[in-house]
Amino acid sequence: MASSSSNATQVPLSFSVPSLKEASRLDSDRNDEEKEEIDWENLGFTLTKTDYMYVMKCSRDGNFKDGKLSRHGNIELSPHSGVLNYGQGIFEGLKAYRSAKGSIHLFRPEENAKRMQIGAERMCMPAPSVDQFLDAVKQTVLANKRWVPPHGKGSLYIRPLLMGSGATLALTPAPEYMFLVCVVPVGHFFKEGMEPINLLIEDEIPRASLGGIGDVKAIGNYAPVFMAQKRAKSKGFSDALYIDSVNKRYLEEASVSNLFIVKDGVISTPTKGTILPGVTRKSIMELAHNIGYQVCERLVSIDDLREADEVFCTGTAVVVSPVSSITYQGHRYSYRTGEETVSKKLYTALTSIQTGLVEDNNGWTVKID
Ligand code: COI
Repeated sequence: MASSSSNATQVPLSFSVPSLKEASRLDSDRNDEEKEEIDWENLGFTLTKTDYMYVMKCSRDGNFKDGKLSRHGNIELSPHSGVLNYGQGIFEGLKAYRSAKGSIHLFRPEENAKRMQIGAERMCMPAPSVDQFLDAVKQTVLANKRWVPPHGKGSLYIRPLLMGSGATLALTPAPEYMFLVCVVPVGHFFKEGMEPINLLIEDEIPRASLGGIGDVKAIGNYAPVFMAQKRAKSKGFSDALYIDSVNKRYLEEASVSNLFIVKDGVISTPTKGTILPGVTRKSIMELAHNIGYQVCERLVSIDDLREADEVFCTGTAVVVSPVSSITYQGHRYSYRTGEETVSKKLYTALTSIQTGLVEDNNGWTVKID
């Protein structure tokens, strides 16, 4: 994060761009060399440098203020910052979609704003208000409008980040905080694309434990899964699936997505506690319930996997990803996939709302242009 790269151009951190209208104007003010072609057909879940990011700081008084857009670039941090030394940081992930008519919609951004506040409290950090969060997200998306993929080609992934930027040697919360919003156009998360994924149950490395931080989007929850993920991928699996750290019997989630199983038309998903309370998870539960499915939030055990008809994962990045098989201690359990599945029905229902193909009767989408 610190500006250590020798060829990185340092950009001034901020300039005055306070309103949504002006954020939108920036989009059309760009010079010609910036209007290069973007290959929308080959978006994966990889970094593309976009034009602007949003930065807002909070000093010792605990209030965030003077948020501004700046050119996307490196930021400067003390080597003693709380985030670098003690992992005092959380992030969010949400998306903007382009409708067939060209308008841009955010999906449930308020849920992310509220989740960031809950996470910040757990990590002893001040957080931007819901309004500040929403305004920052809207400004950043509008200023990067040209990076929102055309309808049906992907989405603009929005990454709000809250960190202890101030320096501290003592093991205490940082004295200053920084809130950033960056955006990246993305396509499919898994290399499988829309195809079903295969999961390997990781029975040595737990992702979280009760009372820990598994249920907040803390930066410290992510690097620890690299080892399990690497192990699963080296054996040809798409991702690892984590089980509870005490009984080693209850399913939790995959590295970046929540889990659902379907048995005889009943949909079950692991209870909250150690899992991340996903916005997509919540939306899928609500949609499934509205369609008429019975939806249960309960302990889901490895035994349930033997019986399940269908399994799928949900998340902002993965959307709704059908699972073709789960392997546990050498036993491979296979599941129904394809057009006639519950997961396909829910995927279509969700993405039709997100991309504006159907009317949003739930008030989940926020049109911003
Ligand atoms: C998201 O789905 O928003 C995530 O956080 C995934 C990310 C860690 C790759």
